[in-house]
Amino acid sequence: MAARIVGTGIAIPPATITNDDLAQLMDTSDEWIRTRSGVKQRQLSLPGHGSSELAADAGAAALADAGMHGSQIDALITATMTPDYFAPGNAGLVQERMGLGQIPAFDLRQQCSGFLYGLDLADCLITSGRADNVVVVGAEAHAGFIPWGARNPDGSFPPPDEAQREVNNSTRAWSVLFGDGAGAMVVRRTEAEGGVLASRLFTDGSQFELILVPGVGFRRQPYVDHAQLDSDLHRPVMDGTGLYRSAVRLMPEAVRQVCAKAGVDPSELDLVVTHQANERITEGVRKQLGLSEAQVPSNIARYGNTTSGTLPILYHELRQQGRIGPGALVCFTAFGAGAHWGAVLYREPAENPPARN
Ligand code: ACO
Repeated sequence: MAARIVGTGIAIPPATITNDDLAQLMDTSDEWIRTRSGVKQRQLSLPGHGSSELAADAGAAALADAGMHGSQIDALITATMTPDYFAPGNAGLVQERMGLGQIPAFDLRQQCSGFLYGLDLADCLITSGRADNVVVVGAEAHAGFIPWGARNPDGSFPPPDEAQREVNNSTRAWSVLFGDGAGAMVVRRTEAEGGVLASRLFTDGSQFELILVPGVGFRRQPYVDHAQLDSDLHRPVMDGTGLYRSAVRLMPEAVRQVCAKAGVDPSELDLVVTHQANERITEGVRKQLGLSEAQVPSNIARYGNTTSGTLPILYHELRQQGRIGPGALVCFTAFGAGAHWGAVLYREPAENPPARN
């Protein structure tokens, strides 16, 4: 018995913000952002539209792609670091929006590795006999912490005044990297050969401070106050160099370990679907593994870093392009805040139906 992917779907918000748009808001350039990160544009949610909506839309598209109805789903797994509410998490909202009934719905807080952990959890639920059909969703609406000021109704940003420009410049090292979007998969029990073959997940709390939001937490009393906001403690703090170093070392190591666990050589991989944090990180992972550009695809140019959304969005696009043929060997890998990382190895069963949307 194994777990196989039988449907995929994505939801991308409508407002496009290009690097040239950003050059009007802060001291940056298309050239700086592209060469440092590979990002050319990102899509941002409009005010009033959160990650639960994107998650439900992606989940519904994945269900339609699988030719299934919500009543056939036994469990829902949602991953996000940008939930609609501080508490509770998005799972109940997504379940309700998707009309899934009172099935168990999990909230995962593994940031960029959220979807990877979700895929492994879906495999555990299915292979343990607890569920036959599971929906896994990664969805983010980072727009809420993008600090470029109030937006126009079409989602663009008005020209900043001097104070706003100062904020934009002081946060430009991380704010230009992120975008919004969601991806979902329907994972089903199969007797066919293939599906999820193996997984290796890791957490190292000693790397907790690589990227974090230092304020607005329950260690503080009160957990949020003006002093924290005035000190920018609600905004992410990122050690870009540290993240890069850990990501390019630990993702290839996880890929090698998961391949060893399943008895395959990394050179046999048809595709490595890596977390789209930064083109330079993807390139570093590719070189470490000695793989070709065709084996390690990227779509960060169009979306930026959509955190828990990157793996399912990229996989959906590859599936649409016909690149997940019968027998295809795919390794998913991610590294992110926590620090959480790992790899999941997947073989597309020979008789899997083709994507339909
Ligand atoms: N535009 C123009 N200049 C900028 C920008 C910007 N958006 N951001 C920073 N700079 C400036 C800095 O102020 C600095 O100027 P200075 O030399 O006058 O002080 C200069 O550019 C170089 O800054 P660095 O931070 O040293 O730039 P670096 O070349 O290291 O690139 C980057 C920064 C792209 C963040 C890099 O460290 C990186 O790729 N890190 C990986 C982190 C990452 O991708 N995080 C994604 C989210 S986390 C996750 O998903 C796992």
